[in-house]
Amino acid sequence: METVSIWKRKEMKGMVICRAKDYKELSRKAANIISAQVIMKPDCVLGLATGSSPVGTYEQLIEWYKKGDLDFSKVSSINLDEYKGLDPENDQSYRYFMNTNFFNHVNIDKANTSVPNGLEPDADKACKDYDAIIEKSGGVDLQLLGLGHNGHIGFNEPCDIFPCGTHCVDLTPSTIEANKRFFESEADVPRQAYTMGIGSIMKAKKIVVVVSGEDKAEILKKVVCGPITPEVPASVLQLHPDVTIVADEAALSKM
Ligand code: GLP
Repeated sequence: METVSIWKRKEMKGMVICRAKDYKELSRKAANIISAQVIMKPDCVLGLATGSSPVGTYEQLIEWYKKGDLDFSKVSSINLDEYKGLDPENDQSYRYFMNTNFFNHVNIDKANTSVPNGLEPDADKACKDYDAIIEKSGGVDLQLLGLGHNGHIGFNEPCDIFPCGTHCVDLTPSTIEANKRFFESEADVPRQAYTMGIGSIMKAKKIVVVVSGEDKAEILKKVVCGPITPEVPASVLQLHPDVTIVADEAALSKM
């Protein structure tokens, strides 16, 4: 596996960039890291992500599960985010995404999988409840992340602080634009979402970020080489002690 370590400061461990030739290879490499986690700690807590980037990773994990190489029976999971106002049965909800793209195809106990409650209208309650779930889990062992075009992780949009815990966000026009492809029209994209905070994401023991495509090249460069700023939320990952960015050549084309 070709890797490049980026040493930021003496006291920091490296951020590892794992280069894949294309999306298929990227998905296999990311799935390899997750499988190693599940094999080494069968009752681990996985932090999971939605979006198109991790779909291939889930497909690869399902394939290895079906071959008998992986067992998710003791694994629990905590998802990053959910649209506010969407029912879990709504095919655009992130709960629905997780069920159809992953949970329904492996032997994970759905009772041990958590996604923020999009149907809770009281944002304070929804966020506190989710923080309690994260706390009770004992901490995420491995957090899988995608990367938004504006540098968001989960739904932590660019702003002037790094939010700590779960919070309710107003989605930016660029995120609504990017995500409208999954909905019938732009008007159908929810304007708000509940998301795990940057603080909770940073508490994960290990973080794996999957980034694919030339349209992510500019933001990936900023995330890895630019200043650490809440205007590029994922830039905070430079401060995490154990981050692996698995990216394809197109996403790495500007580095
Ligand atoms: C959404 C999700 C993020 C995801 C991002 C990028 O906004 N909330 O968790 O990382 O989209 O999605 P994609 O991988 O489809 O580019």
